[in-house]
Amino acid sequence: MEISQLKELLNKLSLEEKIGQLIQLSGEFFSEDQAMLVGPQQKLGINQEMIGLSGSVLNVTGAKKVREIQTNYLNNVDHGIPLLFMSDIIYGYRTVYPIPLGFSTTWDPELIEKGYEIMADEAVAGGAHVTFAPMVDLVRDPRWGRCLESLGEDHFLSSLYSQAMVKGIQKELGATKGLAACVKHFAAYGAAEGGRDYNNVDMSERRLRSEYLPPYKAAIDAGTKMVMTSFNTVDGVPATGNKWLLNDILRKEWGFDGVIISDYAAVQELITHGYAEDESDATLKALEATNDIDMKTSCYANNLADLVNTGKLDSSKIDEAVWRVLCLKNELGLFEDPYRGASEERELTDIFTKENRETALEIAENSMVLLKNKENILPLAKSSKVALIGPYADSQELMGLWAVHGQMSDVKTLKEAFEEKIGSKQVHYTKGCDMLENYDFLGEFGIPIQVIGNYQLTEEEKQAEHAKALAYAKQVDVVIMALGEHTLQSGEAGSRTQLRLPEKQRELLNDIIKLGKKVILITFSGRPLVLTEEFEMVDGLIQAWFPGTEGARALTNIIFGDKNPSARLTQSFPHNEGQIPVYYNSFITGRPENSETHSGRFVSKYLDAPNQPLFSFGYGLSYHETKYKNLEISTTELTLQTSIVATIEVENLSDSQGEEVIQLYIQDQKGSVVRPVKELKGFKKVLLEPLSTTKVEFEITEEMLRFYTRDLTFESESGLFNLMLGKNSDEFLQVEFELIK
Ligand code: GLC
Repeated sequence: MEISQLKELLNKLSLEEKIGQLIQLSGEFFSEDQAMLVGPQQKLGINQEMIGLSGSVLNVTGAKKVREIQTNYLNNVDHGIPLLFMSDIIYGYRTVYPIPLGFSTTWDPELIEKGYEIMADEAVAGGAHVTFAPMVDLVRDPRWGRCLESLGEDHFLSSLYSQAMVKGIQKELGATKGLAACVKHFAAYGAAEGGRDYNNVDMSERRLRSEYLPPYKAAIDAGTKMVMTSFNTVDGVPATGNKWLLNDILRKEWGFDGVIISDYAAVQELITHGYAEDESDATLKALEATNDIDMKTSCYANNLADLVNTGKLDSSKIDEAVWRVLCLKNELGLFEDPYRGASEERELTDIFTKENRETALEIAENSMVLLKNKENILPLAKSSKVALIGPYADSQELMGLWAVHGQMSDVKTLKEAFEEKIGSKQVHYTKGCDMLENYDFLGEFGIPIQVIGNYQLTEEEKQAEHAKALAYAKQVDVVIMALGEHTLQSGEAGSRTQLRLPEKQRELLNDIIKLGKKVILITFSGRPLVLTEEFEMVDGLIQAWFPGTEGARALTNIIFGDKNPSARLTQSFPHNEGQIPVYYNSFITGRPENSETHSGRFVSKYLDAPNQPLFSFGYGLSYHETKYKNLEISTTELTLQTSIVATIEVENLSDSQGEEVIQLYIQDQKGSVVRPVKELKGFKKVLLEPLSTTKVEFEITEEMLRFYTRDLTFESESGLFNLMLGKNSDEFLQVEFELIK
């Protein structure tokens, strides 16, 4: 529609019709069966008129369903403005990738961009218009369940993925291609105190701007069409009513003129936070902060008209919000085609195709992190006879909590993949033990108890399984243990204080270890677990995350050597929960561990644990061995007008080809504020030929050295810097240079 026509449309709308465009409700409110509506309607407290005018739908997909709802809606409204369908399509639609914390270990934004283009393509066929992705909340606390959806602890890498995901989602965005991206959760949701979901977030503006905001800014710069507010407070003000965050930073400073939507019920929660007096006050605060759409509460529906009619809110504020919504609908071509690509035919031919699954396989293969490989026990020969034991050994629950549109029946289990690879005669499988001893917490998810019963072995079954596991272990060369946290122990509201493997799984592993067999542990989780004891006991260790529909195939390809692992961690794995938060770009303090001026005790360290994590940012092993050598820089002096070229040689000492993630870190030795001991400033993923040496170069510029100085000016400062090039944040070669401004 022409902009002039759109403006005419806006001007013709009644106040109620305008308010309707600022309300999002879930699917049951749009069903034709009004009898179904009584319960939810009463619970939410929105009258029938406003329900009928609500302009967007939460989490309904499926071409047939979307078409039905859109048709029914347009038959019942006068204004002719189509519904906007928004859904949580976070890391795959029907073809489900590894969780984002998993695929972030690929260090391959281009591959992820391709994956997200495919994701959007599948979702368009399913009738989606907007996806609530990318989630780019920086996370340094594995107690927080939503590590699962995050891209790890580094803002530089998270920003590159944020940009790639928006570009993939919105590739060729128009009437029939692409989805509108909605970056979330703005802002700093991952810094919830105590790692407890929805908890308070409080940090200096410097830390917020330096570390937590950049990934959102990267999405804005990549053109994301929407932003979702977060549940948490920032500096004492809940994000959804935070005018400084939403209007001053997001809209004025960053120039974002798209649609902002609250997270689920977050407008009403301004009252619970103690920031708003009542729904009217919450409505006023959210809309004045320029939050456009109220997701799933009655606030905007029941209060905006009154606020305008009593003069508390200028109607122009509503027009501005509605205009942004109408522009988005127009950009998606909905006025020309309200069904926009929703196609039952395409759902049958273009979703979960072999080609899409191959991309998912490639992402999954590049997301598995090899954390231990004692005496090169891996890869296994295809002639090996293995015992495959554990609650994840034959489980289809490999997609993680936010694979909303994935189908469990699509997921091949590890057992099936193993048998395909080496034949069932060589695979002795048994579950060995339950996933958990106690499933009571699932009740809070509304999971009916009888479903939980399916998980639980009877006492005699437990004994039999344990005995069978030990018996199989005795008969084979190598034992593969597939263990991990329950899928519902992570994700939203999945905060935990104890991050070790479930007790019965640990007991089984201990009993298997006592047999003296070679043991390879595969861990499935949505977060870094505490694997300190297991790391010592086993011969091989692979972090598999929740690897998606193709995860089992990916794992099997790695275990039997058809894929040389190249994944590198993007979030530190703590020695124990007491270390949290533990992250690589920390600060040296005035009394570092190796201090020369203070005796052993009076330095910054723990009496009962090391300072370093069990596995550091950037860590991961491959089947090839490398040697980094001959780090050289073109000059030791950098100016505003020049740059430095750093080169390093990476020797592949083995006879197998393999990919290496060469990482560039820089330390600013002194600043007007203290600076991190190192910061990731670049990386290159390089294919190394067998028994060869590859020379790799990086360009360093003054721009890379800028930071928020004492007065929050974003600039570089003259002085000495350390440049580090290596295989992870702990292993590198180092050279010094000076910035002269
Ligand atoms: C949830 C999540 C958010 C999601 C939204 C809609 O509470 O916080 O990530 O997009 O509600 O389902």
